[in-house]
Amino acid sequence: MPTTQYDQSVDAVADALNKGHISAKTFPQEHFHIVPPVAPGSGTPATATATAEGTTPAPALPLLFQPFTAKNLTIPNRVIVAPMCMYSSKDGFMTDYHLVHLGSFALHGAGLVLAEATAIEPEGRISPGCAGIYSDDHIPGIKRVVDFVHSTGGKIGIQLNHAGRKASTRPMHTPDVFGPEEYWNDQVVGPSGGANFQWDDKHRIPRELSVEQIQDIVKAFGAATVRADKAGMDTVEIHGAHGYLIHQFLSPISNQRTDHYGGSLENRARFLLEVIKEVRANFNPAKPILLRLSASDAVEHLDIPSFEVNQAVKVTQWAKDAGIDAIHVSSAGNTPLQKVAYSPGYQVHYASRIRKDVPGLPVIAVGSITSGKQAEQILENGDADLIAGARAFLKHPTFALDAGRELGVNVNYAPQYFAARYA
Ligand SMILES: Cc1cc2nc3c(=O)[nH]c(=O)nc-3n(C[C@H](O)[C@H](O)[C@H](O)COP(=O)(O)O)c2cc1C
Repeated sequence: MPTTQYDQSVDAVADALNKGHISAKTFPQEHFHIVPPVAPGSGTPATATATAEGTTPAPALPLLFQPFTAKNLTIPNRVIVAPMCMYSSKDGFMTDYHLVHLGSFALHGAGLVLAEATAIEPEGRISPGCAGIYSDDHIPGIKRVVDFVHSTGGKIGIQLNHAGRKASTRPMHTPDVFGPEEYWNDQVVGPSGGANFQWDDKHRIPRELSVEQIQDIVKAFGAATVRADKAGMDTVEIHGAHGYLIHQFLSPISNQRTDHYGGSLENRARFLLEVIKEVRANFNPAKPILLRLSASDAVEHLDIPSFEVNQAVKVTQWAKDAGIDAIHVSSAGNTPLQKVAYSPGYQVHYASRIRKDVPGLPVIAVGSITSGKQAEQILENGDADLIAGARAFLKHPTFALDAGRELGVNVNYAPQYFAARYA
């Protein structure tokens, strides 16, 4: 008689194999997940329908449900879960929370799940509750999430980040969880230092990074990439957006250095390009890397030097030449003076501009994209190649499957959830 849950599971598997309910091929013995024969979220066109008036031909498969390939990564649809800080870690470790949170998006058919901004150095965490990838000890917790996502047939990447002058802040949703000893207020850094470069009074006064420290951070991006690869990540996304360290270097608002990391656009982009080359050199060459960029500081209403879309186009071209495989186009986050006109698809025009001016580089659009029809329209207009959603997935983890149904696709559910197709 089986005595432990493990024994019972083994018996159940043996029984299912004997009865032919599963095959050894689809059931790796090293874990207890049934790898589905088709990826959840993959789809086929609606079939032809016969009516009294005649047969309506089968429609073409919507662009949103056409698979996308970059290097050896193929995703079954073009709906990506955007990275979202969950402030649910301690000392950088991913937990059961991440397993369930990220795993459920894969189980519910997202084409690609991007894990939250994950710090490449302890001082690069946005808050003490942020995930980290700065120690080999973090690898097993991350790998556990990756293995589960893969077991569903899904794909996953991780966003690599250094928060720079926006580090050591209180976790957004649970500001009082960590004691003062968990913060590193005196070790917050940026391209330029001093009170003039403090983001606002909820942030710390940064110290200016030395060239040696900049080089150390570039290396730390490389070491983090090796860990992501070891954990089995299908891709990594370099976080160059939202006012974190890379964006801080790009923008003259936060970068007023007088050495070769400041001044001209070429100099301000130097750190980003060094990071891209380091990440590329340390990741499996067969796997793609992504870059997230804020295409504008969103201060066009002010007469101040800033990072804006014309510069973003040039930087994206340089990033493409340095080895990125797709660009994820967001905006803002580098100054409280910004004005962002939030409306449906409010950042798509930036994605569109970059796609037009940097041909040959796949573009991910993000920002208030909340329905399958809206997403499909963006792709049909040629504004982007892929769509990402953050809040839409928090509201409806089934967002990708729902989009498929809305567009009339015969979309595949995870086998365990197959019955939902008929609900
Ligand atoms: C809870 C939450 C956490 C976020 N954390 C991150 C993050 O870790 N990295 C990042 O690049 N963007 C982050 N964002 C921004 C989203 O990825 C996305 O760009 C933004 O929410 C706009 O997309 P949406 O309208 O689909 O939500 C976060 C957004 C939310 C709502």
